[in-house]
Amino acid sequence: MKVLVLNGPNLGRLGKREPTVYGSTTYADLVSMCEEAGEDLGVEVEVRQTDHEGEMVGWLHEAADASWPVVLNAGAWTHYSVAVRDAASQLTAHLVELHISNVHKREPFRHTSYLSDIATAVVAGLGVAGYPLAIRWLAENAGE
Ligand code: DQA
Repeated sequence: MKVLVLNGPNLGRLGKREPTVYGSTTYADLVSMCEEAGEDLGVEVEVRQTDHEGEMVGWLHEAADASWPVVLNAGAWTHYSVAVRDAASQLTAHLVELHISNVHKREPFRHTSYLSDIATAVVAGLGVAGYPLAIRWLAENAGE
């Protein structure tokens, strides 16, 4: 089993990007954190990031065909992308929607999600610590 961790636009700039909102952990640190969580749990974890919507759609198709569970931080696409939603709807294993910040405490446009009603679970506001928690849950609940 493989857990795919997919990150959308601007998340490659973690550490530099609005640190008061997203913290000081860099994207490279986040990748290591997720891979280490996988090693501890005995599952393969692959972490990807893109600023291109079509690339994200393609990765979701790949996960759908392979029946991989996905942790998806779709960034801004969360709030408006029907294309990302339609691709995520095709997933055959669990989907965890993840946000580093608590989007519900922020601007009203961030309160809308095109993903929450098709996700198994939503993690928001735990900072980057949400990623290993989501990976652990998926590793332990893969077949259910
Ligand atoms: C985010 C929240 C989104 O509103 C924002 O557009 C992001 C990051 C988060 O991780 O808190 O890019 O998904």
